[in-house]
Amino acid sequence: MSAAPKPEILAAFEAAKGFMPVGEGLALYAAAVEAGRLGLPLLEVGTYCGRSTILLADAAREAGVSALTVDHHRGSEEQQPGWEYHDPATVDPEIGLMDTLPTFRRTLHGAGLEEHVVALVGRSPRIAAFWRTPLGFVFIDGGHTDEHATADYEGWAPHVAEGGLLLIHDVFPDPQDEFTGQAPYRVYLRALASGAFTEVSATDSLRVLRRTGPGI
Ligand SMILES: C[S@@+](CC[C@H](N)C(=O)[O-])C[C@H]1O[C@@H](n2cnc3c(N)ncnc32)[C@H](O)[C@@H]1O
Repeated sequence: MSAAPKPEILAAFEAAKGFMPVGEGLALYAAAVEAGRLGLPLLEVGTYCGRSTILLADAAREAGVSALTVDHHRGSEEQQPGWEYHDPATVDPEIGLMDTLPTFRRTLHGAGLEEHVVALVGRSPRIAAFWRTPLGFVFIDGGHTDEHATADYEGWAPHVAEGGLLLIHDVFPDPQDEFTGQAPYRVYLRALASGAFTEVSATDSLRVLRRTGPGI
């Protein structure tokens, strides 16, 4: 049976600002617990306000590893003012730009999980460029343009250890269903075509792949 979060963790996840539905959250948590058994850090690209991070942090705590979460905290294209997913409460009034870092910190503190998370603040490719540590789990939930989704894959997938998991969010094979473009779907197809990753499960738009070969 796959691992499920304790009621207080699930409640904190549900109360947190963010974009992940509960069904996908449960699949994310189960995958993170499984990957945690490798004893390597769990990494996410796309922190936003910490909703999915809560689940990774709790899985990391269970496994005795760290959850790492990457975001510049200035929001994706579709979260900017005037776009469908914009939340005015995320704008720093002093500089007029989005800043989701304070909400993220409050969210993780409130859930009692701050200790288990390392926030990496900056552009994903810039951080990935000097990354050298093998990872047991990489969850890609950052920018949805081809440029960003491809850079996330090329920057982080090489660090997924043998037997580790690569998760991709917002995979919509049918263009009718997509809302921010099909770049994550193209990245998912590329990962499968590489021969380096094998699909483990699909839960709505969340795909879980396992590294079963070298390369990306
Ligand atoms: C869809 S949200 C993440 C949602 C979050 N996982 C949740 O559960 O609510 C995408 C996030 O990716 C971040 N982002 C987009 N492109 C990025 C990049 N190139 N580098 C770092 N962060 C990026 C945005 O700032 C935004 O917070």
